Amino acid sequence: MFRALAVASVALRPRKAGQVWTMASHQLLVSPPEALRKPLSVPSRLLLGPGPSNLTPRVMAVGSLPLIGLMHKEMFQIMDDIKQGIQYVFQTQNLLTLAVSGSGHSALEAALFNVLEPGDSFLVGANGVWGLRAADIGERIGARVHTMLKDPGGHYTLQEVEEGLSQHKPALLFLTHGESSSGVLQPLDGYGELCHRYKCLLLVDSVASLGGAPIYMDQQEIDILYSGSQKVLNSPPGTSIISFSDKAQSKIYARKTKPCSFYLDMKGLANFWGCEDKPRIYHHTVPIISLYSLRESLATIAEQGLESSWRQHREAAAYLHGRLQALGLQLFVKNPALRLPTITTVAMPAGYDWRDIVSYVMDHFNIEIMGGLGPSVGKVLRIGLLGCNATRENVDRVIEALKEALQRCPRNKL
Ligand SMILES: *Cc1c(COP(=O)(O)O)cnc(C)c1O
Ligand SMILES: *[C@@H]1O[C@H](CO)[C@@H](O)[C@H](O)[C@H]1NC(C)=O
Repeated sequence: MFRALAVASVALRPRKAGQVWTMASHQLLVSPPEALRKPLSVPSRLLLGPGPSNLTPRVMAVGSLPLIGLMHKEMFQIMDDIKQGIQYVFQTQNLLTLAVSGSGHSALEAALFNVLEPGDSFLVGANGVWGLRAADIGERIGARVHTMLKDPGGHYTLQEVEEGLSQHKPALLFLTHGESSSGVLQPLDGYGELCHRYKCLLLVDSVASLGGAPIYMDQQEIDILYSGSQKVLNSPPGTSIISFSDKAQSKIYARKTKPCSFYLDMKGLANFWGCEDKPRIYHHTVPIISLYSLRESLATIAEQGLESSWRQHREAAAYLHGRLQALGLQLFVKNPALRLPTITTVAMPAGYDWRDIVSYVMDHFNIEIMGGLGPSVGKVLRIGLLGCNATRENVDRVIEALKEALQRCPRNKL
């Protein structure tokens, strides 16, 4: 509903022949919204879902620093610092390493838009929602997509991957390191080498696992690796990080067609991020303030040390798993070696509706946990221990909340 405003008098004056109106010549049909007159109000919550995670005080503080221009030398320095931070968390020497202006999905699209050409064979491990999305994007590009479909909870052995490689001769294989919809940690040792024996590039999604479980881009011969800002890194959503091996870069530079996205075209981005030895040319306005946050997150994890961060997540997850089992709950991933330390999936206890439990924990404890996603909907509850919030105290809080929810929520509803 909107009401028309009084007509501006300037619009009513008769027009003289040849006169050009530079003032408003129409009435405003949409009035200023009442809702925007109220001050912004946001609750403070403990975010223990699969992301986003709570920001650290340090990350919040840099969010209010003054804005500078994207072509200022100080900004280029911040971008260079970020690239070094990414090289550290990915454990890579790749020069084509940068942050993408967009959430985790934009890094996935950046990878696929740049590396795949129409007609390329693309092999996808789809053991949850992320592989299904990679396959969807591959189809939009016009690649020949071959999906190795598995129920959530499954992972891919070297033998299964080798069968896919020899059958489909793909140019690219997609695997998810931390499958956050199912709670599976995909092993990665040997997969890159195997792909390279079959002239295939390896693309890995580490959005949910980076910083919480070991990954070694160069040593594991991963060709394209990406992650997000809002999980273990405790930064605001809206930026993601990506790196390309020399082999992946060669495929991009040998393309016969332009990538179908200008915004995510790696040649333009590589130049703007100073990955080439050439003067930087404006490509698009990067999210400057979000990049301050990303730099601060990378600085925080570099100070803590990757190994210490991995240990923190492993210990917090082990403590959570023990306490969940003591409550009589079952973990969805049976093999402890395949459990993702950052995001735990609990098999949905019989008789409950997952929505009741998630709402109870939110309404009575102000804590976010989540149900499943895509193929795991209705099968699991998901609890995330991400970055600064991967602590025993938070495990105690969420266990107390879950215990009460299990007592109070209706049973045998389903
Ligand atoms: C969260 C997540 C994404 C998607 O990231 P967005 O920032 O929401 O675009 C991709 N992959 C995995 C494994 C994730 O957990
Ligand atoms: C979770 O993280 C937020 C942000 O760092 C922090 O304010 C809060 O104290 C943390 N909660 C606990 C219980 O550690």
